[in-house]
Parts: sequence; C-alpha cells; structure tokens
Amino acid sequence: MGFIGSNFIRFIQNKKENLNVVNLDAMSYGSNSNNLRNINDLSPYRFVKGSTTDDRIVKELVTDVDAVVNFAAETHVDRSIANPIAFFESNAVGTLTLLDNVRKTGARFVQVSTDEVYGQTLNLEGFTEKDKLNPSSPYAASKAAADLTVEAFHKTYGLHTTILRCTNNFGPYQFPEKFIPKAIISAIIGRRISIYGDGMQVRDWIYVRDFCYAVQLAIEHGASGAIYNVSTGNELANVEVAKLILGRLNKPEALLEFVEDRPAHDVRYSLDSSKIRDELGWKPTKSFGDALNETIDWYVKNEEWWRPLLTDRILSPTPWKEKWDSFEG
Ligand code: TYD
Repeated sequence: MGFIGSNFIRFIQNKKENLNVVNLDAMSYGSNSNNLRNINDLSPYRFVKGSTTDDRIVKELVTDVDAVVNFAAETHVDRSIANPIAFFESNAVGTLTLLDNVRKTGARFVQVSTDEVYGQTLNLEGFTEKDKLNPSSPYAASKAAADLTVEAFHKTYGLHTTILRCTNNFGPYQFPEKFIPKAIISAIIGRRISIYGDGMQVRDWIYVRDFCYAVQLAIEHGASGAIYNVSTGNELANVEVAKLILGRLNKPEALLEFVEDRPAHDVRYSLDSSKIRDELGWKPTKSFGDALNETIDWYVKNEEWWRPLLTDRILSPTPWKEKWDSFEG
C-alpha cells in the first residue's frame, strides 16, 4: 500500500489478466488504502493487514505463491537519522522473515533495493553491480543488510533470488515527505520549498511505472542470484528539479528556501544499468520532463489524496531534527 508497491499492483493488473495478487502491508504511515482506490476489482486480489516481520502471517501467505516481491520498507533517509532502529526492523528483519519462509517453498524472490547501498560517487561512470556496498545513512545500511541477507539465502539454500537496485523513483501516490511530492505540494499551497545545503546534490530520477516494468521483468526473467541496477541517466541537481516544478506551476523562484544540510548527505548517486538493459531488454519509456509534468499535473488534480497526509512535521524544512514514531505521519 506504499508508493512503489501500489503502483506495481495497478501496473501489473492492467497488463496481466487473472493474475492473483496478495498484498501484505502493515499499514504504517507511508501506506494508504487510497493508493489502490481504483484497482481493477475484476482481477483476483486479496489484501492482508500485517507485517513482513510477522512469521506466522508470512508463513501462511507464501505457501502457495509463484513469486514474492518485497516492496516493504521504511524509506525516508531523514527519519532514519532521527529513528534508526525502526529501519532495521522493517528493512532487515522483514526481509529475513520473508526469505526464511520462502526458502521452504519453490517461490521466486525479488528484493526491491536502492542505489543508496553503494553510497555517493563523483566518478563519471556509475556503480556497477560488482561495486562494494558503502552506505552512508542508517536507511542505506539497513537496505545493504537486507541485500547481503538475500545473497546469503541464494548461496546457502539455492533460493531463486533477484535484487533490483533502483535510483530515486517519482510519480503519482508518492508520500509527501519525499523531495518531488514535497516540492510540488509546497509550491501548490504557496509554502517555500526547502532545499538542503546548496541544492547541488545529484539524484538520477526514474518514473515509477518504468521501474514497475523492471520488477515485472525480474519476476519473469531475472536470473537466479542476480543483481540488476535500474537507472535512467536523468541526473539532476535538486535545485534544478525544484525550478522545473516552480516553472510548470507558474510560481516564482523566490519560493526556494536554502536550509541547513542533512547530516552525511550523499552528493551524488549514479548507476550503470547496462546489465538489465542488455540481459532483460529493459529501458525507460518516458523522458524525465514528460514524466515530471505528468506527476505535477497528478498532484494538482488529486489534492483530496494528499491534503489529509499533510502535517507541519511532514513539510518540515529539516525533518531529521523532528521526533518520529514509525507509525505516525
Ligand atoms: P529524498 O526524496 O529524501 O530521497 P533520498 O534522500 O533518498 O535521495 O531526497 C532527494 C534529494 O532531495 C536529496 O538529495 C535530499 C534533497 N531534499 C531537499 O533538498 N529538501 C527536502 O525537503 C527533501 C525531502 C529532500
């Protein structure tokens, strides 16, 4: 019921008839039943409220499935700085619990990981799947722990596992704490867009539907034990992205507010994704500009979706200084 998982369920149900989807979600703050409000109810679909750390529920649900995709994660770096323990619980223990139950079935396992496990780089060439893990934040460390556990289960038990390391996703239904939706919503309501440090940090942006296609390919054709980087080459400095958003919404650049920098803020993520392009034939379908405009227009049209999620803390200019409980917004 989070951002990428709900986009994936909608994406795959529209593509495949009679696909039987079971959706397990703990429904903590980033999950939202409205994310699947317009799901195709002709296809078999079952929602179960529960945590991926709950051995009993996971055991029951994985007995009769072909594939398990792990989208469940605490994902916000700023919160991981304020409250690191919850991240290891969801991201590392949750992954371990899924793996330990999947190893007793013949199901495939796809892990949704992140470019952040490699840490930052200033090299022209992006990281390849063979590069070493060098996480900076507690969030990235918890995802690296999960990746290593997936690899160990592949080696020890012969589990059919595939890891996808993707760059920053964006698109409809992304929770307002993340940079692109936070900037769009701030601009719409006339609040200032907080830019950490000098705003020159670079992220490589991927449209969520393009990433959903990579997940489909990983389920259907991912090699056992493989890791695939998934990136588009849309590398932009944060301040450039914020200016594009203001331009689309006809808002002045005076709305930019440069604030104190996030601790251990990675200056640039960059991946080499030739492996998934060559071996699985994946490529992005939309340009960054078109996808960003589509996303901005979606937030303009769907205020009733995001308005109830807003709090002062979610829109805080320095969220890592706030106190967070993992089940609240
Ligand atoms: P974010 O969406 O939190 O993703 P990540 O940190 O996992 O890449 O942030 C994307 C970039 O935008 C990152 O460099 C931090 C920056 N940022 C801001 O400048 N202001 C903000 O209010 C937020 C949330 C992020």
